[in-house]
Amino acid sequence: MPIYGKQHFFMLACWPAVFNKTLFRGLAPAGSRIRMKSLAAIAAARARVEPRMVRRHWNPWSRMSFPTTKARSMKARRIRRGRGRGYRKAILINEHFVVYGVPAVAVPLFRPVLAAVTAREGPGLQVLIRSKPGEEARASSDPNLLQAVRNILARCGLSGEETLIRMECRGFLPGWSGLGSSAAFCVASARALSQAFHLSWSDEQVNAAAYEGEKVFARNPSGIDNSVSTFGRVLWYCRGQAEPWQFLSPGAPFWFVIANTGIPSLTRDQIEKVARFRETHPSRFQELCRQASDLALRVRSGLETGMPADLGRWMDQGHHMLCEIGASSHEVEGLVEHCRSRGALGAKLTGAGGGGCVIALVRSRARGRNLTQSLRDLGYGAFSVRVGDPVRVPAHSL
Ligand code: MEV
Repeated sequence: MPIYGKQHFFMLACWPAVFNKTLFRGLAPAGSRIRMKSLAAIAAARARVEPRMVRRHWNPWSRMSFPTTKARSMKARRIRRGRGRGYRKAILINEHFVVYGVPAVAVPLFRPVLAAVTAREGPGLQVLIRSKPGEEARASSDPNLLQAVRNILARCGLSGEETLIRMECRGFLPGWSGLGSSAAFCVASARALSQAFHLSWSDEQVNAAAYEGEKVFARNPSGIDNSVSTFGRVLWYCRGQAEPWQFLSPGAPFWFVIANTGIPSLTRDQIEKVARFRETHPSRFQELCRQASDLALRVRSGLETGMPADLGRWMDQGHHMLCEIGASSHEVEGLVEHCRSRGALGAKLTGAGGGGCVIALVRSRARGRNLTQSLRDLGYGAFSVRVGDPVRVPAHSL
């Protein structure tokens, strides 16, 4: 016995419009006369077999699934929209060394960059940035952002000249360098463009496109930043391998404090500085790379077995090596010392260094809160994060 619901009465009320649309396409030739009773019986039968589909087509309030005019669907076809997100990251061990094929370990942070794309016919590319919620989005004057989007568009087979693309980004933390904001921007943009142009990119394809964008900011990036940003997982990353990343599962949650020196630094300048050290001290650099590889293995096992005290010690050792290759600065040293003197188990620069951020491992959430407060009292930006739970990256959502 068929059960009739509200939707069936709606169907009866507007049956001539519905008749020519998808629901009854193929059931009867357009314009033929069908008795109301049999129409309702067919609808009821389909409701039982395909309840989801019928709900979608019968929902009178859904603009998307029930376009009322031809003009609306034409417009929808011409304007393409897409959204995406990319996560920031912190490197636990071996930034810079990772550029030369040494394994590194990085963790995602719950601080995403969000991108929304609108594309229509016509030339032009515009990147708008909104730093804080509620703030008006402003056109970015940074040529690197535009070039990064152009590189990603090239992976889509577009030049950006024939399509007017408006990319709006949220979640930028101005001045928080070292946390992979540029990579997160590239990942968010790649996801948004993939959605807008119906490319259905896999995470691997998003990652590869984001790497093309990231090259603008770091010139010779290892790929670790965009990989963590894409997958939102704790990563072991080794450049040059066929599959450079492996996902790690921490044995316990760890608490970290991220503190900002407030000194901006450019990744590509820092990479070049380290390249100069490598040129002038080739054998010492080789020896440091060997030590860094051992350290990465220890950090990996410390994470997987959930041993914070050991992990802290190895972070200190990693920082010491980064100082030797010239990646630290006076300001970074000041923050690292402050964190250690306030009970951090270990502290180091994170990212390219020279300024930017510092990461400190603490024993508990409460200690993280105390350290964060002490840093804020001194005027530094700081926040604490728990690492160990995977960040879920919904493929195409804001
Ligand atoms: C920057 O977050 C990390 C560096 O090692 C550069 C890179 O790996 O691409 C400095």
